[in-house]
Amino acid sequence: MCGIIGYTGEQKAAPILIEGLSALEYRGYDSSGVALLADGEITAVKSKGRIAVLEEKLENTKLPEATCGIGHTRWATHGEPSDINAHPHLSSSLALVHNGIIENYRAIENHLSLSGYDFVSQTDTEAAAHLIDFYYQKTNDPVEALCSAADEMRGSFAFGVVFANIPDTIYAIRKDSPLIVAATGSAGLIASDITAILAHTNKYFRIDEGIVAVVKKGEINFLDREGKKVAQNEETVDWTVSRAQKSGFSHFMQKEIFEEPDAIRKTVTPRLLSGIPDFGNDAPNGETLAKFDRIHIVACGTAMHAGLIGKAFTERLARVPVNVEIASEFRYRDPILGENDLVILLSQSGETADTLAALRHAKARGTATLAIVNVIGSSVAREADSVIYTLAGPEIAVASTKAYSVQCAVLVLLAVSTALGRGQMSQADAEDICRAMSENVPDDVAAVLKMSDDICKVAKKYTGCEDLFYIGRGIDADMCTEGSLKLKEISYIHSEAYAAGELKHGTISLVTEGVPVVALITERALCEKVISAIREVKSRGARVLCIVTDDIAEDFDIPCDDMIRFPASVPELALFSAASVLQLFAYHAASARGLDVDKPRNLAKSVTVE
Ligand code: G6P
Repeated sequence: MCGIIGYTGEQKAAPILIEGLSALEYRGYDSSGVALLADGEITAVKSKGRIAVLEEKLENTKLPEATCGIGHTRWATHGEPSDINAHPHLSSSLALVHNGIIENYRAIENHLSLSGYDFVSQTDTEAAAHLIDFYYQKTNDPVEALCSAADEMRGSFAFGVVFANIPDTIYAIRKDSPLIVAATGSAGLIASDITAILAHTNKYFRIDEGIVAVVKKGEINFLDREGKKVAQNEETVDWTVSRAQKSGFSHFMQKEIFEEPDAIRKTVTPRLLSGIPDFGNDAPNGETLAKFDRIHIVACGTAMHAGLIGKAFTERLARVPVNVEIASEFRYRDPILGENDLVILLSQSGETADTLAALRHAKARGTATLAIVNVIGSSVAREADSVIYTLAGPEIAVASTKAYSVQCAVLVLLAVSTALGRGQMSQADAEDICRAMSENVPDDVAAVLKMSDDICKVAKKYTGCEDLFYIGRGIDADMCTEGSLKLKEISYIHSEAYAAGELKHGTISLVTEGVPVVALITERALCEKVISAIREVKSRGARVLCIVTDDIAEDFDIPCDDMIRFPASVPELALFSAASVLQLFAYHAASARGLDVDKPRNLAKSVTVE
């Protein structure tokens, strides 16, 4: 999705804006641009394509010596990717960058056209630029102009604005779309997320809705629409620039898979007290969790797949019914929410528009909400009744990997805590699982990572495929949904995940000579059933890759063409090692195809529009 950066300070703005935009590349974009403010004039340079193209254009343009400017990476929603549609958008007094969607932009265009405004782009954003200008011409007050325009716009927005006649100052306002601001001794910054400004500072403010941030070098004022100063909370991340760099890995995705053992350990260990889960004051614990009759886990994409693991563990261990839902469906289908229900929102970014809307829906219905989020202080984290942070550090690759593993880890701990609270599990059993989560699981995952080259060899055999099936049963069926998504997202190989027992009710009609099928087996109790499914597809000519735990591979004769065996010292928690195997398989298959693994086409890391 789109990215925003703004800088005002003592250094030349253009290189700093480019550096910030480069740090935002991971979000997904198709054009970019900057606007520089100097001597009462705004110079905008915009370009379709990669940031390298913008950089080249900047080198060939006579630029002012500006120390203030704004920049943007655009992920097209209204109008094709083009130089004209790229941001910043200009009006007579200002330049503006925008993340989000202005839903009523047509109505605004119509009314502004009557006032003499010309529209040159196909975007919704240009309407916002002219609307703010319209009010600025009337009032000569930037804060009032921003607030009046914001009142008139429907949809979501984060705006960064520079006014030609207000030197060295960036204005920012937002609604339903994230935006942060920060000040260092010599600079003021705005950004759509912390990675863009991490090279300058790890302290920042999230702007509350309806508040205007006035950013100058070394100084930020937060003003309400009457111009009165208001306070905002400063937040700090312990992320460093190096954690947001590839550090010798070929891709962020590869680096992030290799960070999984550490991420799991860091997420689990602080949540254990006397050997059992304890979320402190942050979130409900055992007895409180036990009071809920039903749990809804609501999320999008990979996070929703982690929700399936949460369902399996909570239902198995605590015997509480769990409903897992895609956030974009949940928000519109008037879900049945009982007064003793808990809605858990799972999100890496904490800014996914549909997940945020689902959270607001649940809250409006008076249902208890718990967020499991990776980005500290993000909108979902701030608005939920309680929050448990996953401590995976920054995840840059569009395809989520380590965030999935830590989401699963928190959900396992929550299931154990709920089971204890309901008297469904003994203290000793709980301690065993928790010990395994903090010790065995990270070690097992680390052992899988050592197998990366072997997994690569197998993956290369499958890079030429166009269609592929993943099958498994129980938790393995849930894991297959994520394994299949990972492969699709980054390698563009079409794949489908099927519960192995369901195969003969449909998909088996597509299995013919040479069709590849990946069978995942970690569940011993269901192992023979999956082996039967393998026999069924093999007898129709399928080429089968079996991904299986060492102990099951030892004990069963599995008919397959290729096999990846992996260690899982605690069989019930084999899903964590299996996740890394599936992720590495997808990663190697995509890199062998020579694809841009970290930035797959059309996808965005954080989907902040509906
Ligand atoms: C996008 C990303 C996915 C991610 C999903 C949910 O679609 O490409 O990788 O799983 O959003 O993101 P969240 O930040 O809410 O976990």
